[in-house]
Amino acid sequence: MNRLYTDLLIKVIANTIYGSASQVIDPSKMGETTPFNREDRLLGRDWPAVAHSMAGIKRLTNVRDLVQRVIDENVPGDLIETGVWRGGCCILMRGVLAANEVKNRKIYVADSFDGLPPPDAGNFPADSGDRLHEYRQLAIDQAQVESNFAAYDLLDDQVVFVKGLFGDTLPERVAGPLALIRLDGDMYESTMDSLEALYPRLSPGGFAIIDDLAHPPCRQAVDDYRACNAIEAEVHEIDWTGGWWQKPVTGN
Ligand SMILES: C[S@@+](CC[C@H](N)C(=O)[O-])C[C@H]1O[C@@H](n2cnc3c(N)ncnc32)[C@H](O)[C@@H]1O
Repeated sequence: MNRLYTDLLIKVIANTIYGSASQVIDPSKMGETTPFNREDRLLGRDWPAVAHSMAGIKRLTNVRDLVQRVIDENVPGDLIETGVWRGGCCILMRGVLAANEVKNRKIYVADSFDGLPPPDAGNFPADSGDRLHEYRQLAIDQAQVESNFAAYDLLDDQVVFVKGLFGDTLPERVAGPLALIRLDGDMYESTMDSLEALYPRLSPGGFAIIDDLAHPPCRQAVDDYRACNAIEAEVHEIDWTGGWWQKPVTGN
């Protein structure tokens, strides 16, 4: 029953049931759409017009499976996504907790709720020239994300919203311990700020999921952080861009 519910939740969050059109990924053509494409929704290659996550079925299934492992393997701590857009991955995390009747873990929902920051090329040269902050399709306000949670009957006090730029909010507002961290902020700065604030608080045996390894600035932040902190855990591939690793029981 649990599996049947979370399988359906994934299909609804990815919107492969009814199938929505996708937004054209080009700020100058904002508002235009392309027809529904099932393969794009499987692999999360599009920006869907109405689905609650752009991650696609494969990366959503990975979220479900690793949250289930957190529960089954008793990894201590809360769960967080940094970079939530319409909230779909966090809604799924909350749904997996509900399906397992877990009441002592929180889901942290961290975002500016106003899109990506402009690049700070002085401090983060890998982000220079990045234009993602121009895409207003990526700016979803907190009230909309709350209403998306409520549509699934999954908005309650186990869901904690952390509004603001990751570098400002995460160090103070997310104490840990954390059992699972999912990073989906695309940029070098967003990925590095999330890793620096959260990875030290990730429990041994916990999971780090990175959505954007195909995006060079994100990949570079992950590679730099892993090299600096001697992290050698194998990165498992989810699809063309997603990956994850498990923090070892001793060390990093
Ligand atoms: C690609 S979208 C996330 C997609 C989402 N995980 C999903 O499942 O559809 C990137 C999100 O990261 C947020 N973001 C990126 N960098 C940020 C930062 N430094 N601080 C706060 N929010 C940030 C944006 O506002 C946007 O909502």
